[in-house]
Amino acid sequence: MTKLSRFGISMNQDLLTMFDQKIVARGYANRSEAIRDLVRNRLVELEWEDKNREVAGTITLVYDHHVRGLNELLTDIQHHYHKLILSTIHVHLDHHNCLEVLVIKGQAGEAREVADKLIGIKGVKHGQLTITSTGEQLN
Ligand code: NI
Repeated sequence: MTKLSRFGISMNQDLLTMFDQKIVARGYANRSEAIRDLVRNRLVELEWEDKNREVAGTITLVYDHHVRGLNELLTDIQHHYHKLILSTIHVHLDHHNCLEVLVIKGQAGEAREVADKLIGIKGVKHGQLTITSTGEQLN
């Protein structure tokens, strides 16, 4: 456990009121935890800006498996990045649509590259990269 530091923040009253309303609606018990989460979110974003940094995340894909050649292409790309993709969950949503979630861990540059490739494939209806951290640098 690291040492806690206390510090004051000066802020426009309207901005603070808006912030307080939002954090209450989101279930935060106090400002401190909400601000800590904001700082952590920004630190995670910064981790991802460094291409060589080790990061973690998930790639979510929704696609119609009936689209010709799509399954093969998705599989080819995933095999190419097999060191980066730790696990895959595949759910058959209905007769046509599949939901796939890939858990990734590796260099930020490569992680973004595989996400862009998969999400950009014709036939992928929706794709989203969720960035997070390996947690090693976050307290
Ligand atoms: Ni499926």
